[in-house]
Amino acid sequence: MTDLTAKIQKLKQEKKAVILAHNYQRPEIQDIADYVGDSIELSRKAMQEKDAELIVFCAVDFMAQSAAILNPQKKVLLPTLGARCPMAQMLTTDEIRRAKAQYPKAPVVLYVNTLAEAKAECDICCTSANAVEVINSLKAETVLFGPDRNLAEYVAEKTGKTVIPLPQWGFCPTHLLFQPEDVKVLKLQYPNAVVMAHPECSGEMRKVADYIGSTSKMCRYAKESDAAEFIVGTEEGILHRLQKENPPKKFFIAYEGAICPNMKLTTLDRLYASLKEEKHHVQVPAAVAAKARKALKRMFQVN
Ligand code: 13P
Ligand code: SF4
Repeated sequence: MTDLTAKIQKLKQEKKAVILAHNYQRPEIQDIADYVGDSIELSRKAMQEKDAELIVFCAVDFMAQSAAILNPQKKVLLPTLGARCPMAQMLTTDEIRRAKAQYPKAPVVLYVNTLAEAKAECDICCTSANAVEVINSLKAETVLFGPDRNLAEYVAEKTGKTVIPLPQWGFCPTHLLFQPEDVKVLKLQYPNAVVMAHPECSGEMRKVADYIGSTSKMCRYAKESDAAEFIVGTEEGILHRLQKENPPKKFFIAYEGAICPNMKLTTLDRLYASLKEEKHHVQVPAAVAAKARKALKRMFQVN
């Protein structure tokens, strides 16, 4: 254990803090966290947390915001203020209101990768782990969906419903980097490798995937699969968990540069400073939080 790790552990106990880390965090952050997971698992953990006084959320802005919304009794900290998901910034409340006026009968389903103000305008939230089930739970045949265009297309394929993307071209800059050509080259080297891809990847990339799912669903799939080799189409941080949980299996990132710079802003130093100074406190205005909470809680009721 390094000095810094020991100091973080000590402070964590003194302050009764729980550390949540997303699957894309740096290996050392994942290793020190109490829970590592995808966005729905971490939201659920934050919502159900009873004992801790502080929730330190090692991820990006919208995930920490969801934690603050779902468990308003707790103080939620985001170690690095600049850790913002660019996709979450792509959808404005004005755009949602305009679309609602244009399609008054269509429910608004928002990916959790949105800011609290946007969530407050929607009927129900979803994550990449449950988007298909959420859309299927609605009676409507036409839904407004944002901000990820690729996830919108994926759920339209899976549900057969008309999914109108909001905005027209919302995307994740990291997942856009994956190209099927790179997978084909890797397949020449590892012909038996199973290809996994996140639904934020392009349609072309999804076509060459054997399995499509959220980050934790990929971890579960890799564990249960008989395959020995995997080509992974999501942010490279997940390789740490995949390798740790499956030591004999081999994992290859589908594109070496697939790094989410925002997720990587959290370092051990910043985590320590965050705990020590109790920064940065994530707060959502009560009126916005109340509406956003309804949409998030409705998501948890869908199986
Ligand atoms: P997961 O819910 O699959 O962890 O995805 C979150 C995310 O930001 C993907 O880029
Ligand atoms: Fe946002 Fe993409 Fe980073 Fe996920 S990987 S947090 S969607 S920028």
